[in-house]
Amino acid sequence: MFLPTDHSKARDELPRGCTFTPGDWHVLASFWHPVAFVHDIADKPVRARLLDVDLVIYRTAAGITVARDLCPHRGTRISAGWIADNQIVCPMHGLHFGADGACSKIPSIANPGARIPPRLKLQTYTSIERYGIVWTCLKNTPVWQLPEWEGISNPDFRKVYVPSGTWYAAASRHVENFNDVAHFPWVHTKSFGGSTAEPIPPYDVEQTDYGLSFELPYHEGFNRFDDGIEGDERDVVYTYELTYPFSTLIKIAPQGSDYVVYFADTVCPVSARETRIFQLMTDTTGEPDGEYWIKDSLLINDEDKPMVEEQHPEELPLDLTEEIHVPSDRMSLEYRRGLVRRFGLGAPFAS
Ligand code: FES
Ligand SMILES: [Fe+2]
Repeated sequence: MFLPTDHSKARDELPRGCTFTPGDWHVLASFWHPVAFVHDIADKPVRARLLDVDLVIYRTAAGITVARDLCPHRGTRISAGWIADNQIVCPMHGLHFGADGACSKIPSIANPGARIPPRLKLQTYTSIERYGIVWTCLKNTPVWQLPEWEGISNPDFRKVYVPSGTWYAAASRHVENFNDVAHFPWVHTKSFGGSTAEPIPPYDVEQTDYGLSFELPYHEGFNRFDDGIEGDERDVVYTYELTYPFSTLIKIAPQGSDYVVYFADTVCPVSARETRIFQLMTDTTGEPDGEYWIKDSLLINDEDKPMVEEQHPEELPLDLTEEIHVPSDRMSLEYRRGLVRRFGLGAPFAS
């Protein structure tokens, strides 16, 4: 019921009820993660959760602020408040906080010139807007770059944003599924996968300075490309570029034309078993058919989601002997190795 009077330990940086091992939490907290689409941050505070930390995202004239969703006065969730005069207002006693999180007004004090304690400040986090996404890092200095997304970064190409969804699965399980071509003819029978399960040819995974990359040909069962080439099925080449820890760009190049689809997937590890999905795409026409691609993407996600949510163990095994691998799992193996060797993830007793 009470916090002890010496509560220095209770102020540990780890969120209460943290679902990650302390070591993994600290490593993951030092990356950029997506927390919202920019277009969803308007005139009301928005809630998000990253690595078990409740966040509030709000907009003022100074831009977008990401802060811990906790009023420093009596600890209620400030996201239940509202925006007024370019400040976020706490719903409990009306304290106002500006873009930098500092308190600027205490309505219960009559003297407007009264000193406001500097500790009366929201805990704000480093954030940046890129590709129409709000990215946040819970540590002061991110250790890894944001993804560099070819095509998506072209200002002349209009972007299509897929409505965000939640998967009750680990972010890393989602990433592996997104980078796995061998499941296409089994899981994506209603969308693009086709019905003939051709063997996956041997492929190499390139180690890049941002993560991993590989390329594979595939025979899609439908023609979903706006490149003027007739036919019900299409041969394509997929190029995958994974930026650690949870962002992937797929370039889809249907054969017979210069047309390319750029599809980006980046996910927020809400907790160790809950993941918020952010996806956007464009193509070399510069004017992709938004209605078509949103419908296609949601159908694909609906096909994947139950598979990934039911994988066990829910946590991605980083001990490579835990699961059985076949040659088409080359990317999955390199991803698991990279998480361990590059970042020390999966070390349960590290902190
Ligand atoms: S709890 Fe926020 S103003 Fe009191
Ligand atoms: Fe899939």
